[in-house]
Amino acid sequence: AIDPNFDENREAVDEHDGHAVWGPVDEPDQLGIHGTHVAVDFDICLADGACLEDCPVDVFEWVDTPGHPESEIKADPVSEAQCIDCMLCVDVCPVDAIDVDAS
Ligand code: SF4
Ligand code: F3S
Ligand code: ZN
Repeated sequence: AIDPNFDENREAVDEHDGHAVWGPVDEPDQLGIHGTHVAVDFDICLADGACLEDCPVDVFEWVDTPGHPESEIKADPVSEAQCIDCMLCVDVCPVDAIDVDAS
């Protein structure tokens, strides 16, 4: 599962589409965590898609990640600022790849 304390245990090493990327990153095998308020561990996401289907405000969009061992697309939290903290995505992800900091 995603580390809920990733913002303390990792460093922001990059930006992607307006959100932070928390390392380590070593493409294409290791992609890190995308986003901060809505954070997706790209190294755990296996492209189930429930988060995209269920998010009421369409926070996520698919992004291509060719060559990653778990899946070659990931749910990217491109509109994390729109999040209304409903926690649906956290509940439906089968591999606990998402953390939403509702505090
Ligand atoms: Fe969307 Fe709710 Fe997840 Fe926020 S907590 S990203 S609003 S499903
Ligand atoms: Fe990935 Fe979980 Fe969404 S596996 S596509 S973050 S439901
Ligand atoms: Zn991203």
